[in-house]
Amino acid sequence: MRTTVGIIGAGPAGLLLARLLHRAGIESVVLEARDRAYVEQRQRAGVLEQGTVDVLRAAGAGARMDREGLRHDGIELRFDRRRHRVDFPGLTGGRSVMVYAQTEVCKDLIALQLAGGGPLLFGAEAVAVEDVDTPSPRIRFRHQGREDVLECDYVAGCDGFWGVSRPTLPAGVGQVFERTYPFGWLGILADVPPSHDELVYARHERGFALLSMRTPAVSRLYLQVPEGTKAEEWSDEEIWRELELRFETADGWTLRRGPVTQKSVTPMRSYVHEPMRYGRLFLAGDAAHIVPPTGAKGLNLAVGDVVVLARALAHEKETGSAELLDAYSATCLRRVWQAERFSYDMTTLLHRAPDATAFEDRLQLARLERIISSRAAETDLAEAYTGFPLA
Ligand code: APR
Ligand code: PHB
Repeated sequence: MRTTVGIIGAGPAGLLLARLLHRAGIESVVLEARDRAYVEQRQRAGVLEQGTVDVLRAAGAGARMDREGLRHDGIELRFDRRRHRVDFPGLTGGRSVMVYAQTEVCKDLIALQLAGGGPLLFGAEAVAVEDVDTPSPRIRFRHQGREDVLECDYVAGCDGFWGVSRPTLPAGVGQVFERTYPFGWLGILADVPPSHDELVYARHERGFALLSMRTPAVSRLYLQVPEGTKAEEWSDEEIWRELELRFETADGWTLRRGPVTQKSVTPMRSYVHEPMRYGRLFLAGDAAHIVPPTGAKGLNLAVGDVVVLARALAHEKETGSAELLDAYSATCLRRVWQAERFSYDMTTLLHRAPDATAFEDRLQLARLERIISSRAAETDLAEAYTGFPLA
């Protein structure tokens, strides 16, 4: 099998890249290890920056998002039993975000690709990426019980944090910047209308909590839990009780309960691999970098990377110049590090580290007070949350 761009992974990065390349008249093949049902059911984040919304629309993948997505003009910060709303458009000159689940974005992109794009093979696991430092790289993969080879001009490693592309880089070509956190998020989906019409980020002595949503009838809620916690360790009753404690306000706000339909734990990590390119292999999305979910940046970073990559490949096709491809890693990393910084700031602002001192507690409260009392500090948060320029 032969194509121009061999794409490993059908998460948002791989699927959107295939779509953008198709529109630029560049052939690609997407190899996805899992089956379609698995990819379409995987629960992930759900906040799209304005720039991401614009890209999806321009790629022809915005119709259902525009019908079913929920435009959000702010978030609430909650601490000390008090509530403070951050007004995005008012602070940023009109920017907002869209709440539309990543799984739904993937479903829309898969449907488009299968209807009129290049090949998208499910159950096709890449096992090796070879010769990326030559003009003719190859991806070895297993599909329907057979070993096969995809020959291409470029390889896009869109295979997430646990994929095969990053580990194939020779030792010593890159550098890793990493930080792990001694806690994770226990997330639930519940069949109950969200108790607030915007996301609520709560800082509490017992730990962080987040109220989010999937639809007007489905709530998504998270609790900070110690690292290594298993979802089964928490009964539904214990989860609701703990959420109530952490969201409690002085003005008598109440949390609506409903049947829990899914429960899982997400670990937290900050990670960047530099550079994001080696020879003809380009890493994009979680394959190159991870952010803790507190800033809602993971999906938006993946989108930014593939926009830059698709543009660079189109430029090379039109002009023969590799200038933009050569700049790929540096261009993406500027935005990646801003998102790393913001996600780290939001995480340390709102979570309680197991070894936190009374001094650090007070500093957290002082940082929150600063955000709610200074328009400059609040604007800084609103600008970062609604998104940095794509490139
Ligand atoms: N061969 C083929 N496919 C693979 C392989 C492999 N060896 N290894 C992994 N994959 C697939 C995974 O099954 C997955 O579908 O690559 C895909 C990677 O998708 P994501 O993990 O969703 O990563 P990405 O597209 O970069 O999207 C980043 O996902 O984890 C969230 O918060 C993160 O929102 C962010 C987004
Ligand atoms: C989610 O809805 O899953 C979600 C929202 C905001 C975040 C993280 C996750 O910061």
